[in-house]
Amino acid sequence: MNIFNAKILLNEPVAPKIFKIIVDAPDLAKNSRPGQFLQVKIADEFTLRRPLGIAGNLNGKITIFYRVVGRGTEFLSKKRVGDYLNILGALGTGFSTPKSKILLVGGGMGLAPLLCAAQNFNSDVLIAGRNADEVIFWQNEFKNHVENIFIATDDGSYGKKGFATDLLPEILSDYSAIYTCGPEIMMKNTAKIALNNKIPCEISLEKRMACGLGACLSCSIDTTLGRKKVCKDGAVFDAKIVFGGDFDE
Ligand code: FES
Repeated sequence: MNIFNAKILLNEPVAPKIFKIIVDAPDLAKNSRPGQFLQVKIADEFTLRRPLGIAGNLNGKITIFYRVVGRGTEFLSKKRVGDYLNILGALGTGFSTPKSKILLVGGGMGLAPLLCAAQNFNSDVLIAGRNADEVIFWQNEFKNHVENIFIATDDGSYGKKGFATDLLPEILSDYSAIYTCGPEIMMKNTAKIALNNKIPCEISLEKRMACGLGACLSCSIDTTLGRKKVCKDGAVFDAKIVFGGDFDE
């Protein structure tokens, strides 16, 4: 873990309100793993750093995606190529390295950490979103890193109509594990299907974080193994310890 300034090589919109940023960070790229995240300082006037998942760590560069939702991310979207971004990271545990092919299941911005997993692990991906606009740019990002891409949209405007979990039962038997990130209900239902089929499932949780270092407890969750801090003990967890208790009921 380190704090440093990284030069911005790209910062542009890829879909409505969603930006992709690439920074030059050879050491971080070499020493980070899929599922880890960064605490990014937007500017001096924003006291809290923003937790952003690593979406790519190839060729000495770090890729991040962010949604413009408030003043901080609006400010970030105005940064230009050649400006610097102050980064603290890499933080968190990351996904396990799988022994054989896995399936990545993601929705919305949850696809960002899965893209890094696709770059590093033998995998296919199941992309879910509300409509074509939400999934097509992710399809373009994943296409050079996976063999197969499955797509589900709520409105049926692209791919198969339905949720990720409508498609999942047809395809999951081909994989040794499932890694998922996205809306909690999607992750929970994905984990339930995976665990019912005795397929290990890892989830990457998104939580509000203040310190990002295990000191403030703002990111604590209850698990079957007691209280855990998402920033320090995760953000990737075995789905069994997060949701397992719910499925037993
Ligand atoms: Fe402070 Fe996790 S964000 S303990």
